[in-house]
Amino acid sequence: MKRILITGGAGFIGSHLCERLLKEGNEVICLDNYFTGSKENIIHLLDHPYFEIIRHDITAPIMIEVDEIFNLACPASPVHYQYNPIKTVKTSVMGAINMLGLAKRINAKVMQASTSEVYGDPEIHPQPEKYWGNVNPIGPRSCYDEGKRCAETLFMDYHHQNNVEIKIIRIFNTYGPKMDLNDGRVVSNFIVQALLGKDLTIYGDGQQTRSFQYVDDLIEGMLRMMNTPKEFIGPVNLGNQNEFTMLELAKYIIELTGSTSGLIFKPLPKDDPKMRQPNTALAKSMLNGWDCAVHLREGLEKTIEYFDSTLRKKAARKKVARV
Ligand SMILES: NC(=O)c1ccc[n+]([C@@H]2O[C@H](COP(=O)([O-])OP(=O)(O)OC[C@H]3O[C@@H](n4cnc5c(N)ncnc54)[C@H](O)[C@@H]3O)[C@@H](O)[C@H]2O)c1
Repeated sequence: MKRILITGGAGFIGSHLCERLLKEGNEVICLDNYFTGSKENIIHLLDHPYFEIIRHDITAPIMIEVDEIFNLACPASPVHYQYNPIKTVKTSVMGAINMLGLAKRINAKVMQASTSEVYGDPEIHPQPEKYWGNVNPIGPRSCYDEGKRCAETLFMDYHHQNNVEIKIIRIFNTYGPKMDLNDGRVVSNFIVQALLGKDLTIYGDGQQTRSFQYVDDLIEGMLRMMNTPKEFIGPVNLGNQNEFTMLELAKYIIELTGSTSGLIFKPLPKDDPKMRQPNTALAKSMLNGWDCAVHLREGLEKTIEYFDSTLRKKAARKKVARV
């Protein structure tokens, strides 16, 4: 049994990771300040004898004895990370320093949840790990993109200078149950709009592409990466290579929800990448043939079911409050 710390454990990805690591017989400590995460995501785990939660902000140091750390704490959607950009930079940079300092002191292995945003608006397609990216350092997305880039730098420097055992993964767009209803990300936006019978908002002409991986595939990749030999530190891309235009995705979600919603078009936000697709050759070769196994249809159906039940619960609570 390993003792594992997950920062950002009450968030979308973190809560799935808590579940999976507990299922595998580990002791899990979930650390979160609940900025974007929620206790609802982990409430079903609270009675588990090997699950603990700590309310803490990773911009402050913490002392705790663990074998492994998954560093996920950071708001991930533009609406959330742009709400307080200075805090976003602090979370990425000071959070990385605090987690690396902790790993160094207690001799733990530490993984950084980095992002495809380190590639910015890429000039190379699909993006391999060797590509350095095309990031605007002074734009509205910079607090997140540059914060994550600096965190990667810190991970490499702690590894080279202090011999800390590190792993870096670059996560591409991920979706699934427990995503926040109002986080403004395209999959949640489209599903909520379709379920409420509202028109789906397409930014630009809808021809920009993204690739979406289901959260279970990501978690599998994260665990395989954490268990690779010490010498393999990454960064490694984890994402789905199947690419869709936003227009295709919108039409697919309307079909799967059986919604009567239409489409409305709005201007593209500043610095929005036009295309994003991972090159996953490294993940395949280093992570035992890892690949995305969940088909978009299956993943979307599970996600739609989750959003449908969450919206119903919300509506029922409102009704009770009115009575
Ligand atoms: N979801 C994706 O598609 C995606 C893509 C690339 C990278 N990532 C990375 O994966 C990680 C998890 O993303 P997610 O989608 O689950 O987002 P999320 O917002 O659901 O989860 C982030 C969690 O971190 C917590 N948090 C934020 N700031 C904190 C702080 N200062 N101290 C302690 N806790 C803090 C939040 O409350 C939340 O529970 C993030 O680091 C994100 O950058 C996610």
